[in-house]
Amino acid sequence: LDRVKLKKILTNAKINPPKDEINSAPQPQVGPVPRMGRKPVENELQKGAGEVAELAGEMLLSGGKRLRPLLAIIAYEVAGGKDIDEIMNLALSFEFIHTATLVHDDINDAAKQRRGITTLHERAGQAKAIIAGDWLFVHGFGLGGLYTKAIIDLVTDCCANIAISEFMQLDHVLNLSTSPEDYLQIVRGKTAGPFAAGCEAAAIVAGSSQEDAEALGRFGMELGIAFQLMDDILDLQGDERMGKPRGADVIEGKMTLPLIHALTLLHGDKRKKLSNILQQFTDKNWDELMGLLETSDSLGYSQLLVRTHLERATLELQRFPDSLSKSLLMRIVEHVHQRHM
Ligand code: IPE
Ligand code: IPE
Ligand code: MG
Ligand code: MG
Ligand code: MG
Repeated sequence: LDRVKLKKILTNAKINPPKDEINSAPQPQVGPVPRMGRKPVENELQKGAGEVAELAGEMLLSGGKRLRPLLAIIAYEVAGGKDIDEIMNLALSFEFIHTATLVHDDINDAAKQRRGITTLHERAGQAKAIIAGDWLFVHGFGLGGLYTKAIIDLVTDCCANIAISEFMQLDHVLNLSTSPEDYLQIVRGKTAGPFAAGCEAAAIVAGSSQEDAEALGRFGMELGIAFQLMDDILDLQGDERMGKPRGADVIEGKMTLPLIHALTLLHGDKRKKLSNILQQFTDKNWDELMGLLETSDSLGYSQLLVRTHLERATLELQRFPDSLSKSLLMRIVEHVHQRHM
């Protein structure tokens, strides 16, 4: 990857490049990540796929951060890979699968907005949105299927684990005795697992040792846990830049870590108040909810936990020699802590 391409990729992922190393690069032309995805969709449209490809393609190209393909590409380089073309289909596979999970997740979470625009099921109806999600999954698997059995197994397992943990999350809706361990298990499955699989699979494609591939897998897992924790904090804080409405988790009864922490720490009237609010939350309850979370410093605690997981992610990178790609991974680690979208 040359500096120009890297800068373009990072800019499109809305991540500031590390100043000292690539900011001096000339203004980039079109890099691989923003463009990736368009070609397979266009091919399918040409074959006559019609509306399902149009809807799925719109979603795929609707301005996500593209963190998963970015991680796969950079992890490939950290693991010693030299030919970026070798990793592109895998990077794309993870973005297709991620997009599929978002389409289905928005149906299940009854979300009206994603990336600042109306969700697919709100525009096209639930039936078409389910099928468009399936279309994205199938093409994601097709791209992952271009690799060896070890890679296919990683992709398959992480997708199956998303399903398992989404079931577990559903079974914990409004379960006020959900433990931090339950939460972590859900988060590993639904979010961190795909991050881990992307990094580990990329290292295998690069021909790295098993130890190095597993270290990058653990890096992805820790980063992914921090990423979902941050998503859950931002859901409570609300930020227009997220492109999705505030409080979706509370309204759906999702037991996220800040809530689990507050439920553990608060006692007596305050605990009762919190459990009442969670069981019948409306927009009028925001001030009261945030006041209770403040009393137990539950957002502060969650932020601390984000830091812990990011530190663990960083430690996994120690075994790799310093390089531009390693400093980019470090930049992504920082970004996860500072992100607003
Ligand atoms: C959203 O993922 C789903 C979660 C795992 C929290 P992203 O925040 O990476 O979504 P996009 O692709 O950038 O929109
Ligand atoms: C991400 O969790 C789940 C997926 C794996 C799709 P969320 O339900 O918190 O994701 P957002 O907040 O809707 O993006
Ligand atoms: Mg969800
Ligand atoms: Mg959701
Ligand atoms: Mg969320």
